[in-house]
Amino acid sequence: MNIALIFGGKSSEHEISRMSASAVLKWLVKGSNDDSEKNEILKLGIDKEGRWFLTEASPEEIFDGRWEDKNNNRPAYITPDPLAHGMVILDEDRFIYKKIDVVIPVLHGDHGEDGDIQGLLNMAEIPYVGCGVATSANSMDKSLTKKLVGYTKVRQAEYIEIRKKEYLEDKDGELLRIKNKFKGNYNLFVKPSSAGSSIGASGIKSEAELPRAIELALKEDKKVLIEEKIVGREIEVAILGNDEPKASEVGEILSAGEFYDYDSKYKNPKSRTRIVSDLPRATIDEIRSKAIEIYKALECRGLSRVDFFYTEDGEIVFNEINTFPGFTSISMYPLLWQDRGISGEELIKDLIELAINQE
Ligand SMILES: Nc1ncnc2c1ncn2[C@@H]1O[C@H](COP(=O)(O)OP(=O)(O)O)[C@@H](O)[C@H]1O
Ligand SMILES: [Mg+2]
Repeated sequence: MNIALIFGGKSSEHEISRMSASAVLKWLVKGSNDDSEKNEILKLGIDKEGRWFLTEASPEEIFDGRWEDKNNNRPAYITPDPLAHGMVILDEDRFIYKKIDVVIPVLHGDHGEDGDIQGLLNMAEIPYVGCGVATSANSMDKSLTKKLVGYTKVRQAEYIEIRKKEYLEDKDGELLRIKNKFKGNYNLFVKPSSAGSSIGASGIKSEAELPRAIELALKEDKKVLIEEKIVGREIEVAILGNDEPKASEVGEILSAGEFYDYDSKYKNPKSRTRIVSDLPRATIDEIRSKAIEIYKALECRGLSRVDFFYTEDGEIVFNEINTFPGFTSISMYPLLWQDRGISGEELIKDLIELAINQE
């Protein structure tokens, strides 16, 4: 099989995508070496400007960004032409076609996790790992996710939506709307509707902090969510599968920061993840079954990580879903499957299988 791995991209999560792709590539190579039939692995990197290159970079060069400096990188693009079923590579002054059997879009955020690349791959009729266009789009936009999850019985944080245009035109009116919604309680959390890695998100405790928090979030997206602040443990469930998805055990984030912000996620080595073992089996199973309920409600395929809060009163509150969760060697998604006895290379194989065999 010709397997294409796409990584990088214009999104603010470019670096995270490179870290994830580096780990996925190592597992893919390991898995392919074990197979009797050799796979060809095609690495398609997208730089921060959005330019596409076919590269022979190593996992390490992808990890730290040196892949961009390789002098044998060649411009290459997935073509939407279904008959080509693959990519065109610009070689000197001619185009070469290369067939692709399956794509692993190891992309987080804009253009990668929001349905864009999935749309291109649908046109090209190339199978790909992960959720389709509508699910990706609905899951990337937290306000749309909330509306769809609203059809389930799973609890979510109370929230209100602010739009940039209205906020700029009538700031006082919008601030009053928030005050009324939360009855003057300013223990709130503010975040862009579509972003990731906690970029533009912040918690506030007083009225005075609100405008700054909104303006910070508005830098990332035209739509901002103001939520009741949930105090609780941050727990995550990995889901794998198409029509009969299975749930991992429950993982927990132990954030080094006040909340799980960008630095706590990727820079602070004091942040840790662990498998939850101190809750009753029934509670853990309830969380797992809620995760599957949400996965099905959003019509996910392949994989997703479903994130919750578990409050002191024992309430399970859905927070968000990630259709292409972090895949770095220390990320929760692969760790949760390792805990279940599924190694990185087996996980990648399963994901490819699920991509190819979806009806
Ligand atoms: N309503 C909330 N109450 C308290 N903390 C929150 C709330 N929403 C988000 N957070 C904190 O912010 C982090 C990032 O928010 P999240 O919704 O997961 O967005 P992202 O897509 O950036 O990961 C969460 O991991 C959590 O620590
Ligand atoms: Mg999150």
